[in-house]
Amino acid sequence: MKSLRYINKYFVKYKWRFLFGILFTVVSNYFGVQMPAFFSSAIDQFQEQINQPTNYLWLALELGAIYMGFSLLKGFFLFLMRQTIIVMSRYIEFDLKKEIYGQYQALDQSFYKQNATGDLMNRISEDVGLVRMYTGPGMMYTINLAVGFILIVGKMISISPSLTLFVLLPLPIMSILIYKVSSTMNKMSLEVQKEQSYLSTLAQESFAGIRIIKAYQREEQITEKVSESAERYKKQSMRLVLVNAFFSPTIVFLIGLSSMIAIYYGGLLIIENKTTVGEKKMTVGGIVAFIMYVTNLTWPFASLGWISSIIQRAAASQQRINEFLLRKPQIEDLSNVPCPLENGLQFDNVSFAYPGSDTSVLQNISFEIHRGQTLAIIGATGSGKSTICSLLARHFDPTTGQISIDSKALPYYSLQNYRHKIGLVPQDVFLFSDTIADNLKFGVEHKELSTEELEAACKKAHVLHNIQDFQDGFQTILGERGVNLSGGQKQRISIARALLRKPELLILDDCLSAVDTETEEIILDELQKEAATRATIIVSHRISSIRNATNIIVLDQGRIIESGTHEALLSQKGAYSDMYQFQLEQEKDAQTKKED
Ligand SMILES: Nc1ncnc2c1ncn2[C@@H]1O[C@H](COP(=O)(O)OP(=O)(O)OP(=O)(O)O)[C@@H](O)[C@H]1O
Ligand SMILES: [Mg+2]
Repeated sequence: MKSLRYINKYFVKYKWRFLFGILFTVVSNYFGVQMPAFFSSAIDQFQEQINQPTNYLWLALELGAIYMGFSLLKGFFLFLMRQTIIVMSRYIEFDLKKEIYGQYQALDQSFYKQNATGDLMNRISEDVGLVRMYTGPGMMYTINLAVGFILIVGKMISISPSLTLFVLLPLPIMSILIYKVSSTMNKMSLEVQKEQSYLSTLAQESFAGIRIIKAYQREEQITEKVSESAERYKKQSMRLVLVNAFFSPTIVFLIGLSSMIAIYYGGLLIIENKTTVGEKKMTVGGIVAFIMYVTNLTWPFASLGWISSIIQRAAASQQRINEFLLRKPQIEDLSNVPCPLENGLQFDNVSFAYPGSDTSVLQNISFEIHRGQTLAIIGATGSGKSTICSLLARHFDPTTGQISIDSKALPYYSLQNYRHKIGLVPQDVFLFSDTIADNLKFGVEHKELSTEELEAACKKAHVLHNIQDFQDGFQTILGERGVNLSGGQKQRISIARALLRKPELLILDDCLSAVDTETEEIILDELQKEAATRATIIVSHRISSIRNATNIIVLDQGRIIESGTHEALLSQKGAYSDMYQFQLEQEKDAQTKKED
């Protein structure tokens, strides 16, 4: 239960709502307790006046009106109780979700590497929902039970202590029984929930992957898998219904037992006209009041098991949430020193292993890049090119060595300011399901970009003509409900998005792989025109696209094996030169094939 202490700060934040909630619960219960007492005295009055028919109707109306008044008051305060406590729980839910979401935004890549998206979603929706069951209904029913119990039992004792004792005897048995039944029910409903979420994931995946399923003719297998899961879900639900069905009869039986005791023992008290020390004379009205009290007590007691399971589940959920909330981001923005990226950036003996892994994917990488220069990185797949880009974007910090500007390591400068100056075009393009315009403006602070600016950037990225071909132009919606772009179109929009940031350091991670060589040439020429305004890092597999770079690094298994200009590397006759020859041959082959 310790984990739930985390929530206490929110109870403090909403203390007035909470305190008023408790107050309203007390008042509502007060009126609730008055009702049976009043009912009982009404019966006794009737008994006395039954032989005076003139007063009869009038008395009934008067008593009825008062009784109704009580129930209206009780209801009114019940309404206020819910309005305060349940509303408070919604506020807490909102705050908690905001806190978790904020933390998600603050956490670094290594966190996202360790946790699956489904898990992140669950904590913010399902787990927060379970915690809300504790701060809302759980709290409300607990307070209600405590207040109700004290008031009702107090009232019962004031009528007859001995009868109270007898009538309350079955209550502990009932509590245990109900606890057992509800914990079985909880276990079963957890299973049902699990199966349900499995079933919906299965269904969702089969819709998302429908093209693959059809192409590989796997419809039957998938359908079979879904029906197996649906069958299990049905069976589990049936079992839950069965246990559920036992619940109400058990309670009704125990209420009956208590009522029987009230009638039997109360009856004896009346017949024998007995009074023990401190007890009033028992009346028929008194017995009726007892029966009503027992019934009123039963439901709160019945909810005990339910409340305890709510608290247990909330505690487990909060613990899962705390795991995330109490985690410190590894890359923190602790400085506000603006970063003089215009002075160039330096890698000094940088080595890097991904979090949770021992193998270094980069070893002793050193290079420099300055404004106006283009640094090209080339190397086999898996050689560490994208990893260098990730380090440049400070998604991770180097394991050893440092990336520095003006001889100060990157963490010395404000992360916010550093990232602000970078334009990253990642290898795996990601565009949001939004309009093309909004995707383009995504990286720009205030989004006040004119259409001309958008057009200019798209022209440089050689994608403007594609956008203009769409009926809605820049307002075309991308993604599931909109247009699906080709791989090359996506890459070029993603380049335009980076250019609109007017970056001081532009990182192009293999982002022209899906466009043909001619288009690539056009884009590179465009970029070259404004190369003086920034430093450019370009990752590529094609030598044709990097031959004009100021400096070229050849990467092999995380190490720099060669570096220099295109001409210098060619004259070295090493790996680069081999790669060049190979690519030339291929191009020639392709050319002759075309001509044939
Ligand atoms: N998030 C990660 N966690 C652990 N290992 C990773 C991660 N990303 C990449 N790696 C590993 O790091 C090595 C370098 O990967 P990287 O993506 O930098 O290669 P690359 O040169 O960009 O390859 P490609 O040309 O295919 O894009 C690979 O062995 C890869 O398996
Ligand atoms: Mg890569």
